[in-house]
Amino acid sequence: MKKITIAIDGFSSTGKSTLAKQLAKELGYVYVDTGAMYRAVTLFAMQQGLISDSHFDKKQLIAALPQISLQFQFNPQLGFAEMYLNGQNVETEIRTLEVSQQVSRIAEVSEVRAKLVEQQQKMGADKGIVMDGRDIGTVVFPDAELKIFMTASPETRAQRRFDELTAKGQQVTYEDVLQNVVGRDKIDTSREDSPLVKANDAYEVDNSNLSREEQFALVLKLAMEKGS
Ligand code: DC
Repeated sequence: MKKITIAIDGFSSTGKSTLAKQLAKELGYVYVDTGAMYRAVTLFAMQQGLISDSHFDKKQLIAALPQISLQFQFNPQLGFAEMYLNGQNVETEIRTLEVSQQVSRIAEVSEVRAKLVEQQQKMGADKGIVMDGRDIGTVVFPDAELKIFMTASPETRAQRRFDELTAKGQQVTYEDVLQNVVGRDKIDTSREDSPLVKANDAYEVDNSNLSREEQFALVLKLAMEKGS
C-alpha cells in the first residue's frame, strides 16, 4: 500500500508522542519527535550558559548553531529512537522541567527553526513517517496526507505531565507544571515564526475524554483511509 506522511500537531502534553509512536509501530513507519530536537537545542544552550531564567544570549546561540548536531538513534529495547546531542544520548536530560521552562524561548528563534525544519524535511523525504510537533502540518509538511491536531484542557494536560515527571522521580508541584503548560501554550501560539495553529485540513482530536485506545482506533482508521 502507498506510504503516506502523517503530521501530528497540538498543545503540549496532549499525548501526541504516545499516539505517534503507536501509529508508527502499527504501520511500520518511522517516528520523529520534533519537540525532542527543540529540547536538545535548549539543553545545549543551557550547558553553554547561553540561557537561564534571567538571560538569553540569542546572538551567541545563533552563532553556535553549526556546532549542534542532532541525531535520532533507534533503541530496539525501548522500541523508539532516542535523541543524541553531539553524540551524547540526552533522552533523559531533555525531559526535565528545567528544559521545559526554557524551550519555548528557544523555539521562537527563526534561525533555530530553519535549521531543524530543514533536517525534519530530509527525514521525511521518503514518506512512511509519523512526525509530531507544533508546525508539522503547517510548515514542515504542508502537503502531508493526514494531519491531526490534538487538544485537551490545560488541567488534564498538567495532570498527565505531573504524573509522568513524578513517576520518573522528579520533584515538582502540580501548580508549577500547570503554570508551565499554560505559559508554553501562550508562547507557542503567539510567536511570530510558525505559531501553533491548526492547519485548515487537519482533523481535530480533543482527547480530554477519550481513552488512548479510542483515540488510536480513530486515527488509525483515518490513516488507513488515506492510503497507508
Ligand atoms: O512537544 P514538546 O513539549 O516536547 O515540545 C517542546 C517545545 O518545543 C514546545 O514548547 C514548543 C516547541 N516545539 C516547536 O516549537 N515546534 C515543534 N515542531 C516542536 C516543538
